[in-house]
Amino acid sequence: MSISNYSKDNGCKDMKYDFDHVISRKNTSCIKWDGVKAVFGTSDAIPMWIADMDMPIAKPITDAIKERMKHNIFGYPLHNPKSVVESVMYRMHKLYSWEIKPEWIILTPGIIPALYASVRAFSRPGDDIILQGPVYHPFWSAIKDNGCHISENRLLLNDDHYEINFDDLNTKFEKRDGRPPTPSRARLLILCSPHNPVGRVWTKYELTKIGEITTRNGAIIVSDEVHSELLFPNVNHVPIVSGGVKML
Ligand SMILES: Cc1ncc(COP(=O)(O)O)c(C=O)c1O
Repeated sequence: MSISNYSKDNGCKDMKYDFDHVISRKNTSCIKWDGVKAVFGTSDAIPMWIADMDMPIAKPITDAIKERMKHNIFGYPLHNPKSVVESVMYRMHKLYSWEIKPEWIILTPGIIPALYASVRAFSRPGDDIILQGPVYHPFWSAIKDNGCHISENRLLLNDDHYEINFDDLNTKFEKRDGRPPTPSRARLLILCSPHNPVGRVWTKYELTKIGEITTRNGAIIVSDEVHSELLFPNVNHVPIVSGGVKML
């Protein structure tokens, strides 16, 4: 049995989405709706606090899951199934003309576990890790829960949009005495690109500047680009690596 028919764009190209059909998610153990009272103290609130959809998942995805279920055995899968690797490579090439190698791809159960694993892999307890607040809350906990120190390069609100404070970013890499382990400085920057919640799609200029400052200081960027395909028309997302920042 194979799911390779669903790799690349097969089945998705001419798909029509129905955003008007309302499916109630109440009483389905769904944190967004069934957790409303616990979060807001009342059940009478519209839960807009979590990026969880109220529309059905794309049909090619449910079709592939149904096809897989027919097999009736759900044992350990290969680490990097060929169809998934090929789909990721194809999509990165199609969207960004970015050629990626199969060995660069590591599958994880979600982005949050990947964030935690990255913090553990590339820093030691006590290190500074930079984030750009206000930002998606698990960025903060991934740093704190792994015994690291949050170094906030706060975004600047200029009129109606946010910008990066590059002067402050530079200072975040300065060596600080007295904080173990030595040398005590930022080893990692966790980037949110495009940025949740401020809604900025960082420009190539901004990304290049972040890349220059970070690599000049021997640090690593972990870039969460989950929102890269949720854009207004005529806005382009640039994966930070494709913009010339060297990969590990
Ligand atoms: C920036 C960002 N990263 C990650 C996630 C969640 O990713 P996952 O569901 O894969 O853990 C979200 C969801 O809102 C998000 O906004």
